[in-house]
Amino acid sequence: MKKSEIVAALNEKDFSHFYEKADLIRYREKGDYVFIRAIIEFSNYCSRRCAYCGINADNKNISRYRMTASEITDTAEAAVKAGYKTIVLQSGENHKEDKKELGRIIRAIKKNQVAVTLSIGELSYNDLSYFKECGADRYLLKHETSDTDLYRSLHPDGNFEERIKCLRNIKKLGFEAGGGFMVGLPGQTIESIADDLLLLKELQCDMAGIGPFIPHPDTPLSESGSGSTELSKRAMAIARILLPKANLTVTTALGILDPKERDSAFHCGANVIMKKITPDEYKEDYCIYPARFDRTDIIKDRREIERIVVQTGRRPI
Ligand code: 5AD
Repeated sequence: MKKSEIVAALNEKDFSHFYEKADLIRYREKGDYVFIRAIIEFSNYCSRRCAYCGINADNKNISRYRMTASEITDTAEAAVKAGYKTIVLQSGENHKEDKKELGRIIRAIKKNQVAVTLSIGELSYNDLSYFKECGADRYLLKHETSDTDLYRSLHPDGNFEERIKCLRNIKKLGFEAGGGFMVGLPGQTIESIADDLLLLKELQCDMAGIGPFIPHPDTPLSESGSGSTELSKRAMAIARILLPKANLTVTTALGILDPKERDSAFHCGANVIMKKITPDEYKEDYCIYPARFDRTDIIKDRREIERIVVQTGRRPI
């Protein structure tokens, strides 16, 4: 699809034809399986001040934590026992992070024959390469927005070119690369969402997460409105059409705004869902956006997600 076609599609009054097409492609490429991934938010230390993010360095209303190595590996092991095949390790971007220790954690988790995904921000080529050697399989780094002016205004500590360079390095090193962006950022246009989608294609992302922006009270964007769940689903459907083989995640943000939208997203091209398994004592301090925090029971929660997946007519894996 060309940019003008994507813009026209996103603006369409009746989008059902695109949803059907995305769902057919999803079925052809992925069957009825839905991958359920476990995410451990192992640290909320962050040196960046991204204007939308609740764990940005300026937010003094949260306690900062870092799980110990054994807390992380024990949590991962419990997830493996519950049936998860992928462990996602996510944290704020913290360049004081002990690389060697994280390397040992990755090696320990890999002994369980599961995939390890990292989502720890922008890293140098050398650091990425080190974690690849340690056994990390995949890396998530959303580009957030392809509108370079908007990118600059939201990210006082980063720049768009560096982020894209990092994504290209992730690809080059042989990680499965996960990209994505937010929908409904203040000032974002439909045209720039079309560019976001084309960028995912240009980067040949293996995975993508596209979800609505949700304002967090302790950020500079606290007064902004939430992104549209409908537009987020439309963008996801176009991503499925552009990248037929990609693994597309139903973002948690979509489910927070509306659980029904989360479930319907499985019919708009999505084939992946993530479940937080961060221990209760930490999870409230990992609030990227406001959310309800239920108590974690790794086995019960996995069964509940499996039930939801089955209810949408699909097969959990
Ligand atoms: N609303 C929605 N998504 C957000 N993220 C960060 N802050 C918000 C927010 N307020 C997303 C970003 C980031 C991912 C970990 O969470 O896309 O890459």
